[in-house]
Amino acid sequence: MTQAKFITFEGVDGAGKSTHMAWFTGALRQRGIDLLLTREPGGTPLGEKLREILLHEQMHAETEAMLMFAARCEHLEQVIRPALQSGKWVISDRFSDASFAYQGGGRGVGIPKLEQLEQWVQGGLQPDLTLLFDIPIEIARQRLAGNVSLDRFEQEQGAFFQRVRQAYLDRAAKMPHRFIIIHAEKSLQEVEKELSHIASTI
Ligand code: TYD
Repeated sequence: MTQAKFITFEGVDGAGKSTHMAWFTGALRQRGIDLLLTREPGGTPLGEKLREILLHEQMHAETEAMLMFAARCEHLEQVIRPALQSGKWVISDRFSDASFAYQGGGRGVGIPKLEQLEQWVQGGLQPDLTLLFDIPIEIARQRLAGNVSLDRFEQEQGAFFQRVRQAYLDRAAKMPHRFIIIHAEKSLQEVEKELSHIASTI
């Protein structure tokens, strides 16, 4: 039996990550893999309450970073670590790379501070695989345009998302062993073909 894997999906809002995540988990389930689907911020009752606050209340950028990691701490202790230990694969819609991209790149929180929180909350734990859906910001914004209720992050301007995108790419360059960059402006069929290959080989 292969060891349970921890896989995360990342990308700017509008990259199509959620659609692709549903498809990818379907492909893994077809292989008979027992998996748990979760998300951040959220993933636990307390985490979901924090998500509501994070997505809708104004706050200082560092408060935002600490609350993201507080929700993550609960998520890791209550859900992620126990699942992996019991042999279940964990697929999470976002994880710490989002904090480096949004709070670090987007809001300007210093990377050393985020690394301290990461070390505190995760110890050495990192995802085994991170699929980063990269897309030009103009296209991502167009995809979000029809959306009526945008949260606090989705309401940000293009320059914010340019910084988020760049911070994701910087993070991927720093940890190339666990990142796969998917060019998300490609057609649904092309992306699914790539995901199908990944799902059959991991
Ligand atoms: P998202 O996956 O986009 O939710 P939905 O698809 O329902 O809109 O996540 C919500 C937002 O949270 C997203 O804009 C990015 C933000 N976020 C951070 O800023 N930092 C983090 O550490 C995480 C996990 C998410």
